[in-house]
Amino acid sequence: MTIQFSTKIFPQADLRSSKQLKSSLKSLLTQTTDCLVLGYSKADFEGFAGSKGAKVKAGVLAELDSLLGGSVSHANVLGDLDGKQASVCLLRADKSWSGVKAKRILLLGMGDLHLTADQSLSAYVKVARAGLKALSGGAIENALWFAPSFTLSKISEMIAQEVRLTIQYAGDQAYRFGVRQPAMKFKAKDKADTFKHLVFAGNDACAKELKLAVEQGTAIVEGMHLAKDLGNLPPNICTPTYLGKTAQGLAKKTTLKVEVLGLKQIEALGMGSFLSVAKGSETPPQFIVMRHQGGKAGEAPIVLVGKGITFDTGGISLKPGEAMDEMKYDMCGAASVIGTMYSTALMKLKKNVIGVIPTCENMPSGKATRPGDIVKSMSGQTIEILNTDAEGRLILCDALTYVERFKPKAVIDIATLTGACIIALGHVHSGLFSDDESLVRDLSKAGQDSLDTVWRLPLDAAYHEQLKSNFADVANIGGRPAGSVTAACFLSRFTEKYKWAHLDIAGTAWKSGAAKGSTGRPVPLLVNFLLEQK
Ligand code: BES
Ligand code: MN
Ligand code: ZN
Repeated sequence: MTIQFSTKIFPQADLRSSKQLKSSLKSLLTQTTDCLVLGYSKADFEGFAGSKGAKVKAGVLAELDSLLGGSVSHANVLGDLDGKQASVCLLRADKSWSGVKAKRILLLGMGDLHLTADQSLSAYVKVARAGLKALSGGAIENALWFAPSFTLSKISEMIAQEVRLTIQYAGDQAYRFGVRQPAMKFKAKDKADTFKHLVFAGNDACAKELKLAVEQGTAIVEGMHLAKDLGNLPPNICTPTYLGKTAQGLAKKTTLKVEVLGLKQIEALGMGSFLSVAKGSETPPQFIVMRHQGGKAGEAPIVLVGKGITFDTGGISLKPGEAMDEMKYDMCGAASVIGTMYSTALMKLKKNVIGVIPTCENMPSGKATRPGDIVKSMSGQTIEILNTDAEGRLILCDALTYVERFKPKAVIDIATLTGACIIALGHVHSGLFSDDESLVRDLSKAGQDSLDTVWRLPLDAAYHEQLKSNFADVANIGGRPAGSVTAACFLSRFTEKYKWAHLDIAGTAWKSGAAKGSTGRPVPLLVNFLLEQK
C-alpha cells in the first residue's frame, strides 16, 4: 500500500453545533499533522465574509479565524478564499497560531454539500478530489481529513460511501506501476508521492461505522492496485502461469482458497471450446478457481468469471498491427476478478464468493484453430469458429458451464469482449447485459454508488438469429451489427441454469494514449455489489 488510511476519533466533535464548535476546532488544531483538511460550507463562508448585511460573524471560518489570529481574514483579503464548491485554500502555520500543532490547514469549499444525508456523490467526489490533489505532489506526508458530515452522530450509508470514495480516489492517485510487482521493479521510474498517510477524523458516536468504511475503502484500493498491476504488466511476464501464481500467492497471504487446473485437467473436463483458443500458443492454459468462504457453509455463492486472454493477437484471423500491444489488457476481466477476490478477503466479507478464471493466449501458429473449425464445448453444444478473434466467448462459455456445479446464487462474467462495446458506450460506462431485473438493478446501483458505472444493453431473442450456423449448434460470430449484443447472446446460451449478468469492459478497463494504463475498473463496482447484497 502506498498510502495508509486510518481513523482518529474526537469525542463529541461536532462542527454543526455552535456550542461544540470552538472546542471541536481546538481539539483538531492541537493534533500533530502536516495538514488539517477542514471542510466548510457555503453558510460558513457567508457567516464569515459577511455577505448581504450579516453583522455577527459565525460558523467554522469565523471561529477558526479567531483561533488563528486572523489568518483566515488575511487569506480572504488576498482573494485566496472564494467559498466556491471544490475550491481549496492552504493556510501555513505562522507565529500568530498559538497552541496550534497542525503545520497547515487546507480549507476545502463544500458549497451546499453540507450536513444532509442526501447529497450528490459526484459533487462530493469533485470536492474530495480537489482536496486530494492539493495534498499530493508537495512536502505534505500526512493529513487529518475532517468533513463536517463525518461528525453526524449516526453515520449514514451515504457518508460511509463518501469515505470509501475518498479512499478510492486517493488510492487511484497514488498508484504507481511496478512498485508491488518484483518482476517489474527496475521499471518503476515514476517517483512515489511523498503523501503517505490519510487519517479520517470522526465523532465518537460514529466511530465504528467510520472505521468500517475506512477498512472497506482500503480493501477496495488494494484490489484495484492489484488489478491495475496485472493489467499493466507486459504479456511476456503476465502469462496464464503468472496469473495462476498470483492467485496462489493470495491464498498464502489471506484466507482465500485457490486451485489452479492445468492442461490435462482442462482436457479431462471436456472444455473443447476453451482449448481451441489455447492450442495456438506455446504457453499452457490455466483454469483458476478462487474461493472466499465468508458466509454459512451451505449458502449459495456469488460467482465471478473473468476473461483471462493474456495476449490477443486475433489468432489466424490476425488483428491489424496498430495498437496491438494493448491486447495485453485482454486479461482485465481476470484481473478484476482476482482484485475483487483479494478485496473480499481483506474485508472479511460475510458472504460466499467464488472467482473463476479461464486463461490462455490467443496466438496464430501451425497448431492454431482455423476459421471454419468446429469444436465441442463442455456443455455439449458444438461451435463453428468463423473468426478466431472472437475468442473471449470461446473460453468463457466453458467456464460458464463449469460453474453450474456451485449452484450459484448469481453469476457475473467480466470481459474485454468486444470492440463494438467501445463504439456503443465509449469509455464511460461498462456494458451490462442481463435478463434478470434484480441483477440489473443491483449492478446499476453499485455502479452509481462507486462511480464505476454500467449501462444496460439488450439481449433479446431476435439477436440470436445472427448466430445461426449451417454446420454446428451455434456460430461464434454474428456479423458487424450489434456486435456486443450478439457476443452476449452467445454467452447466454451457456447460462440457463442460474441468474446471470455479463459486463463488457472493453471500453473501461484501460486508457490508451499518453495516459495509457489500467483503470482498475470494475473492481469498485464489483466490491460495492458484493457489499450491498443481502
Ligand atoms: N479482445 C477483443 C475485444 C477488444 C478489441 C477489446 C479492442 C478492446 C479493444 C476481442 O477478443 C475481439 O477481438 N473481438 C472482436 C470480435 C469480432 C471478431 C466478432 C472485435 O471486437 O472485433
Ligand atoms: Mn479477439
Ligand atoms: Zn479478446
